[in-house]
Amino acid sequence: MVKAKAWFCFFLFSSFFHPVFACGQVRGYTPLMSWTEEQYGTTVPKFDEEHKNLFRFVNQLHRSIVENQERSIVKHNLDALVSYVVEHFRSEEEMMQAKGFEGYEAHKRSHDKFVETCVNLQEQFAAGQDDITLETMQYIKNWLDSHIPNTDRQYGPFLMGI
Ligand SMILES: [Fe+2]
Ligand SMILES: [Fe+2]
Repeated sequence: MVKAKAWFCFFLFSSFFHPVFACGQVRGYTPLMSWTEEQYGTTVPKFDEEHKNLFRFVNQLHRSIVENQERSIVKHNLDALVSYVVEHFRSEEEMMQAKGFEGYEAHKRSHDKFVETCVNLQEQFAAGQDDITLETMQYIKNWLDSHIPNTDRQYGPFLMGI
């Protein structure tokens, strides 16, 4: 009985200091961005899916900052996010152009400006001149929080022929 108690105490003690506990997985990671129809829905299923993917890339980068992961991992996640941003923008632009959406030019300018900012971030990070911080992540979130509901949502009824 005493032996069982001792083992139980040992188990409690060791689990508290277990690396899984220490690295925060028990407490869990809170994503920076979560997709909801109400906040981000565009009525175009293809682009809603792409926005969900985009948020996964944003959260992956955000998580590597929050958990203070190695610089090489942050770089990998930043590059993956920027590649997906470029891919997603191209996908929206191609459909807007193909369907003759009148807001195409202004929309593309908005995309181009954001890509330029992202590429600057990549270059500065790669050169060791700047870090990706929580403020950087907030900037990315704010841009998407404004662009998707205000700009992307405009193409919805047109592209869906409503
Ligand atoms: Fe979009
Ligand atoms: Fe867009």
